[in-house]
Amino acid sequence: MEKMEEKYEKLKEIVYKELSYAAHDLDHVMRVYHYCLYFAEEEKEADPKVLIPAALLHDIARKQEDEDPTGKIDHAVLGAELAEKILRDLHFEPLLIEKIKKCIRAHRFRSGYSPDTIEAKILFDADKLDVIGAVGIARSYMLAGQHGERMYSDIPIAEYMKENVGENGRIKDVTKHTMNLEYELKLKMIPQRLFTERAKKIAEKRIDYMENFFDTLRNEIAGKN
Ligand SMILES: [Fe+2]
Ligand SMILES: [Fe+2]
Repeated sequence: MEKMEEKYEKLKEIVYKELSYAAHDLDHVMRVYHYCLYFAEEEKEADPKVLIPAALLHDIARKQEDEDPTGKIDHAVLGAELAEKILRDLHFEPLLIEKIKKCIRAHRFRSGYSPDTIEAKILFDADKLDVIGAVGIARSYMLAGQHGERMYSDIPIAEYMKENVGENGRIKDVTKHTMNLEYELKLKMIPQRLFTERAKKIAEKRIDYMENFFDTLRNEIAGKN
């Protein structure tokens, strides 16, 4: 049987090839991977044979979701299926494959699966950390530019929700969305939704930073310097 390390190298090659079309996605996957290892140091019962492949493959269907004109593809659900094929080809044990698929399926808020194993919880936490803090702000503005969003909106959040947020939290018109609204709607609640102690601690620090950032942004835009 091949050594696990060799299999991980092969997995990395596959992920690099699949995600290299968008460098930020690949960078994101590697940040998530490193945070997973960091959280696992404290969560001793986590199995690296599940966690490492899950971290590397968790966004493997990102491209398919982004390019799907129907908006029906969920990259967490499809990603679990694609991962199964990749892992079978690399001769991973069936039981491991099932556990890895579970993590991938549950890594996203909206997919309707919740993380119920320690490996799934760690992956969820590591992935969510990447949408907050300075990294979260930078990533979001990169995407906001692509979507034609404005930099800031001062619409009261209750009014905005009535106008542009559908049931199930879907944004109706993305061009009316802004990063500060996303922060109010979702991002600032992230620390409460995380599972592991290490991730929660980092998340709280990142939210403080974002609070500060949006205060400064608001003041600068209002001419209060
Ligand atoms: Fe994802
Ligand atoms: Fe991700």
